[in-house]
Amino acid sequence: VKRLERTLIVPDCHIPFEDPEAFDLMLKAGKRFKPDRIIVLGDFGDFLSCSGFDKKPSEAAVQFDFEMMKVNERLDEVDALGAKHKVFIEGNHEARLANLLKRQALSLYDTLTIPKVLRLKERGWSHVKYGDHIKIGRVNYTHDTGALGPYAHIRSGEVFQESVCIGHTHHAALSYTGNAKGKSHVAVQCGWLGSVKAIQYLEPAKVTRSWQHAFGVGYSEPNGTTHIQLVPIIDGKCVIEGVLVS
Ligand SMILES: [Fe+2]
Ligand SMILES: [Fe+2]
Repeated sequence: VKRLERTLIVPDCHIPFEDPEAFDLMLKAGKRFKPDRIIVLGDFGDFLSCSGFDKKPSEAAVQFDFEMMKVNERLDEVDALGAKHKVFIEGNHEARLANLLKRQALSLYDTLTIPKVLRLKERGWSHVKYGDHIKIGRVNYTHDTGALGPYAHIRSGEVFQESVCIGHTHHAALSYTGNAKGKSHVAVQCGWLGSVKAIQYLEPAKVTRSWQHAFGVGYSEPNGTTHIQLVPIIDGKCVIEGVLVS
């Protein structure tokens, strides 16, 4: 039996507002899984300090330096999983940095980029700008296609007409659709690893109901077909490779 290439898919973490238990569980599961490839689906960092929205005093106190220290610490931990291939896809939250510079410091636009503040090149990550996607094998990975809610993965599948894996929605769901020729596509939204309590700009009651702690794994055949599985975190536990991790 030939070993399939393994991909660990890391959804929205919103660091420094990640859920530490959920994030650490993903890392623990990742160590067991031994990924060949890691794909960060965007909103890895929250970039609250770059947000153009009105803030509470406690939010305004969050400094860019502090956020980047926390995001880089977590990225160090993801690096330690030792994957050979790593892809960092920007989300709309990473795009807050470029948007802030466009508004207030255009001369720094090419200097203070996501690859630079997260040292992506020296860490060995390839980088996908917000709004763009990357196709690996038969699957298109992107932060979002503009769709939200419990069916956003299906609507994103309609956009690509191919297999698609998205973050952004914080919902976890997976579905398969075929075409008349019998080819089947997977559409998946991978949940999130953030903390509803830590993120103060949203009404917790509205989102607790529908946002799901989860991440994804994929097994790729040499022909590019990737068998994606959702790994939901239920009561602080998840199952990876048939083993309960807590
Ligand atoms: Fe997000
Ligand atoms: Fe997002």
